[in-house]
Amino acid sequence: MPKNAKLKISDPSIERSVLYVGEKEIIAASTGILKEEGWSIIYAPSLAEAPQYASKSGALVGVVGFSQKEFVDHAHRVELMLAQSTMLKWIALIPPNAAEQPAFRQLIGSAFYDYHTLPLDALRLSITLGHAFGMAEMTADTFQGGQWDLHHHPESQMVGASDQMQKIYQEIRKVAGVEAPVLITGESGTGKELTAQAIHERSTRKEGPFIAVNCGALPANLIQSELFGHEKGSFTGAHERKIGRIESATDGTLFLDEIGDLPMDLQTNLLRFLQEKTIHRVGGRQDIEVNVRVLAATHINLEAAIKDGRFRQDLYYRLNVLQIKMPPLRDRVGDIPLLAQYIFTRFSDEKAHRVKGFSEEALHAMNHYDWPGNIRKLINRVRRAMVMCEKFLISPVDLGLERRTNSRMQVTLNEARDSAEASSIRGALAQSRGSVSMAARQLGISRVSLYRLMEKHGISKS
Ligand SMILES: Nc1ncnc2c1ncn2[C@@H]1O[C@H](COP(=O)(O)OP(=O)(O)OP(=O)(O)O)[C@@H](O)[C@H]1O
Ligand SMILES: [Mg+2]
Repeated sequence: MPKNAKLKISDPSIERSVLYVGEKEIIAASTGILKEEGWSIIYAPSLAEAPQYASKSGALVGVVGFSQKEFVDHAHRVELMLAQSTMLKWIALIPPNAAEQPAFRQLIGSAFYDYHTLPLDALRLSITLGHAFGMAEMTADTFQGGQWDLHHHPESQMVGASDQMQKIYQEIRKVAGVEAPVLITGESGTGKELTAQAIHERSTRKEGPFIAVNCGALPANLIQSELFGHEKGSFTGAHERKIGRIESATDGTLFLDEIGDLPMDLQTNLLRFLQEKTIHRVGGRQDIEVNVRVLAATHINLEAAIKDGRFRQDLYYRLNVLQIKMPPLRDRVGDIPLLAQYIFTRFSDEKAHRVKGFSEEALHAMNHYDWPGNIRKLINRVRRAMVMCEKFLISPVDLGLERRTNSRMQVTLNEARDSAEASSIRGALAQSRGSVSMAARQLGISRVSLYRLMEKHGISKS
């Protein structure tokens, strides 16, 4: 989380940026007054590029000057693009008779914070901008410090406005304040490591090191010495004393990733360390006291691993004092366009110059894909599409999401039924925020049936 996460309450003596998209003539006569009122106008060449310009300038409010008919014709596209920049509050400037057109009215009503009819009254606009700015600040707070603020700690940015992510932000804040271990669970690519970093950065240990160890990636013969260190001459090849990863996390946080892959004998050693807060290096005799906070993550079900005899139950209890369960991307209602736009902005220097954003079809395809591999996969797909795209807007084909839609035709009826069933259940559970009774009512089945179907499809409550 960026250290400057909290936005300050607005101070009128500080210049505030406002993004403008549309013909410059529309506001040309008002720029003087707006400037006097403390607004600095940033001109974005198109709506698709608005998030990028907002990111650079830190703007929280935007104005769209509608004059061309083209805007009316593309009302739906405008709406989608505005929906992608949820951090910004938009104000529309519209020609006198535009409000009479149903498509236009709908667009203004759904995507804009407010509108003004032309010709423009600059002072009135300044007041509306002030209100919109205040509201945007409120929203920005809940976004954990502004997704557009890409200049600080890009690795620890967490994007997401869904209820599921709001809950995660709250949990991160709560567990950051205590010293107990936290177990972070969730499918691959859901942001477990990012969450661990966020906990560290919000804790009193933030000035200390954050040491991540992937327990699955260490070679079995070296893992003991990697974690605990060794003394000189303790085994062939130990030419020098080596400080292990646990010790190097002193006064900071140790993140044990893929803890489920830790071999049994190491589990025993780790348990001893967690109980006694001391280690001894391989070949060493003395106990060394080590002050670290332990966070662990796993994408496997540790309870099943305990049943299979692959994971120590006592170690599980030690690590699982507090638990954070990362939601899969397919359950995070509304976050996919937000993340896609964030990835687009973050990797914009890699993209082909002509590429300006996502097509409606691409947004639709992303929203309806299941995303096994979650955010990691979304990042890969979007980055690839940004390079491969040959048009102005990224299409489902560029994202590799087209084939799936075509092959839908070839699935068996049973497969189609299963997939429809699973997605209805996921949708109902997401809407009822994990309440099984409410979801069952919505689906028109009993709770028992719903539990059975959830088990059949491997769906969990939240
Ligand atoms: N909320 C988020 N906002 C933006 N980027 C995110 C978010 N969550 C995850 N990411 C990004 O997605 C990628 C995967 O995240 P991370 O490595 O934390 O997931 P993980 O759960 O540890 O995955 P794995 O199980 O594959 O190790 C990273 O590049 C991370 O920066
Ligand atoms: Mg990981």
